[in-house]
Amino acid sequence: MDTYDLAVIIPTFNEEENIAAIIEAVNKVFQHNGIHGEILVVDDSSKDRTIPIVQEIADQNDNVRIIVRTEDHGLSQSVVEGFGVARSDIFQVIDADFSHPPELIPRFYEAIRDGADIAIGSRYTEGGDIEQWPLKRRVISLGATAFGRILFPEVTDPVSGFFAVRREVVAGAPLAPRGYKILMEVLGKGRWRSFVEIPFVFRDREEGESKLRLDTMTDYLRQCADITYFSAMHRAGSVWDEWKKIGRFGLVGISGIFVNMGLLYALTEFAGLYYLISAAIAIEVSIVNNFIWNDTWTFGATDNLRFERKTPRFLSFQAVSMGGLLVNVVVLFFLSDIAGVYYLVANLAGILVAFAWNYGVNRHYTWKKI
Ligand code: GDD
Ligand code: MN
Repeated sequence: MDTYDLAVIIPTFNEEENIAAIIEAVNKVFQHNGIHGEILVVDDSSKDRTIPIVQEIADQNDNVRIIVRTEDHGLSQSVVEGFGVARSDIFQVIDADFSHPPELIPRFYEAIRDGADIAIGSRYTEGGDIEQWPLKRRVISLGATAFGRILFPEVTDPVSGFFAVRREVVAGAPLAPRGYKILMEVLGKGRWRSFVEIPFVFRDREEGESKLRLDTMTDYLRQCADITYFSAMHRAGSVWDEWKKIGRFGLVGISGIFVNMGLLYALTEFAGLYYLISAAIAIEVSIVNNFIWNDTWTFGATDNLRFERKTPRFLSFQAVSMGGLLVNVVVLFFLSDIAGVYYLVANLAGILVAFAWNYGVNRHYTWKKI
């Protein structure tokens, strides 16, 4: 299936002010970049003039089509229907309202041509931004994004509506689209290995108004739960991989506590060392223990006897672990001394924050290349 190099899917609902201009802009981008592309408008029975406007353009342009949906109204559903009928092996999804700059389409296209399975337009990576959004929308969006990042820690903007994807990723995937966050569904259930992010500046629409409402929040939470359940059932996919690592990292941490306590006891009781000396040795040995397990088991390093590669990772892990101890103590101090929380509870919070710190920094820094 490669009648076209690229299929640009534009979901629409009441976009009479924008639709002709965005189609023209996308076609210009095709021309200027030598892309043989099609434009597929997927409309949910707009009440305004969107449909006749597109129909007229389609009559004059072979590469423009419109699908008018009459059932199961929804942005995500429309995009998935577009995947089903697009005549290309690469799909690009873009809003009709110029919030997503069409000039960037060739960058998405090239990223996929260069081997990425998904190319994600990100507002939250370096170079990305949002213009003219009221505080309320910013806060809602940041909250939704933060939540999405629990599932996809690597993806800075997992709810972006601006992305490109290879057909194989979504073909046959059990997508259950609902609400606004189609990309989450693709990330959660599609078959992909690699992605790239393309920073872009989101501009709020100048014409018409956003169709996003608050009740899409509950849809979103349901979707997150659904994706988590799916990945647990299939024991595969990026969500599963990530949580497997987090679980292993936690178990290794617990093993370190046993090593630490056992050694503290043995060195003090049997070797007769002063307990603070024992403690220092116990801490260091447990860090070494944790490193070895995390290196080979949690993050699956295979360069086993390559010490010139392991040493930098170990040093980094060591530094992060010391930082973790500090984080633990600082949280303990602030919560108990300043906020008046019972010190054992405060320490538990400290341990959790330190765990998040240790995992996050090691995951993204120490074992970045693995
Ligand atoms: N077919 C169809 N059905 N299209 C829809 C529907 C629908 O029910 N609702 C909205 N659209 C179309 C709009 O016509 C527009 O082209 C695009 O989907 C985005 O709709 P907006 O209403 O402009 O969304 P937004 O600006 O609030 O949200 C944007 O940002 C979100 C992230 O914060 C979109 O890009 C979302 O996809 C994105 O998740
Ligand atoms: Mn918009």
